[in-house]
Amino acid sequence: MPKITYNDDKGNSKTIDVENGLTVMEGAIQNDIPGIDADCGGSMACATCHVYVEEKWFNKLSKAEDAEVDMIDMAYEPKKNSRLSCQLIVTGELDGLIVTTPEKQS
Ligand code: FES
Repeated sequence: MPKITYNDDKGNSKTIDVENGLTVMEGAIQNDIPGIDADCGGSMACATCHVYVEEKWFNKLSKAEDAEVDMIDMAYEPKKNSRLSCQLIVTGELDGLIVTTPEKQS
């Protein structure tokens, strides 16, 4: 199973095995990762699953669709490497992915 590392802004880090086909958000919820609340359950309506993706991984992700980009604009402190973790499907190619939750979410 691909390993996904979830960091928070305080330097805490957890690396979890996440099943292929789940989203990065679902991996977080199933493993009680703090800072990813996913209030809307993954329908791109809340941005409480917002994460910053480590730069070297960012270009390996499928491009964000317009609705995701719009929702990220409303998230807390969006950056160039912001994504909604509910839109990131875990595959073998993402083994080693590192994401960080924004300060306000942790
Ligand atoms: S879980 Fe609500 S936007 Fe991702």
